[in-house]
Amino acid sequence: MTRIGWYGLGSMGLAMATNLQRHLAKKSLNLVYSNRTMARGDTLKTLGAVPESSFEKVVAQCGIIFTMVSNDSVLQHLISSALRSGHPLKDKIFVDCSTVHPATVGLTVSKLREQQATFLAAPVFGGNPIAVDGKLVFAIAGPHAAKETVKPLIQDVMGRKVIDCGEDASKSSLLKIAGNIVTVNLMEAVGEAQVFAERTGLGTGPMEELIGEAFGAVAGGYSKRLTTGAYAPSLDSRPGFGVSLAIKDANHALAIAEEHDVQLPGLQIARENMVAAREYAGECLDSSSMYGVLRQQAGLEFWNEKSRKGGK
Ligand SMILES: NC(=O)c1ccc[n+]([C@@H]2O[C@H](COP(=O)([O-])OP(=O)(O)OC[C@H]3O[C@@H](n4cnc5c(N)ncnc54)[C@H](OP(=O)(O)O)[C@@H]3O)[C@@H](O)[C@H]2O)c1
Repeated sequence: MTRIGWYGLGSMGLAMATNLQRHLAKKSLNLVYSNRTMARGDTLKTLGAVPESSFEKVVAQCGIIFTMVSNDSVLQHLISSALRSGHPLKDKIFVDCSTVHPATVGLTVSKLREQQATFLAAPVFGGNPIAVDGKLVFAIAGPHAAKETVKPLIQDVMGRKVIDCGEDASKSSLLKIAGNIVTVNLMEAVGEAQVFAERTGLGTGPMEELIGEAFGAVAGGYSKRLTTGAYAPSLDSRPGFGVSLAIKDANHALAIAEEHDVQLPGLQIARENMVAAREYAGECLDSSSMYGVLRQQAGLEFWNEKSRKGGK
């Protein structure tokens, strides 16, 4: 049985790797993991996973290697380091779950193919609580045999559903970017409705009840990020879905849309508001922090009673 490796223990990666380790432990196997900040893996280690000091060392030991990192440049850096390491990569399967541009996927596929290794793009839908529950939706694309090898490590382990986007790995990345057009617009819509509710005296409580009841659990969850203050968490915490990650996703969608003469006006407004939020309150913000800017535009403070009260 090939060893399974993992790199990237952020808000999503740690929860996903934890579920994978629990699954492997039932078969007396242990995940080999690494992360830039190794201490993030301490709980994983207590579950039996094995720490390694670098991505190259994980790759050297494992036949299937998952990555869950911030963005395109981090993924490209990791893949380059594996290629430079001199370890044979033949027959290894790299599975990236991050949200990256389809062109990054295409480039990575070609580089790994030269070494007779396979790359699967397997981005995910759902935030940290859904990752913790092992109920993410995965979109997966790449060579058939590799997908069939990897799916049992995903279905009912880290995810509730695997959408197969075919053999062209860039297609699942495109689906992820398209899905985030909905995510970011929905956060903007919920933020606008909650500011409306507060300023008109309707109140955020009944608004939240309606959003959850009438528009579903995802919209209800976005409302909770506002009313619990999670849109602007304390400076010593890691946001659920960092604002810069959502800006990256919006930028990818807008760039692809432009190439195809598609207008995304709603997404453009949401991106402007996220950028303004980051300028005002820094990196430690959730993607829903456009709410703070919408509050300011309505004459309210950026912060609400449950959020942090300042700082960048
Ligand atoms: N959060 C969500 O709700 C959500 C949902 C679906 C998809 N996504 C996507 O999933 C990916 C991960 O999201 P996340 O929320 O888990 O992000 P995150 O909490 O910011 O974690 C990012 C991960 O990348 C690592 N990293 C960042 N910069 C690095 C660098 N220069 N070199 C090496 N490692 C680096 C981080 O290491 P450290 O631990 O050392 O910082 C961490 O392991 C992103 O592409 C995001 O767009 C997120």
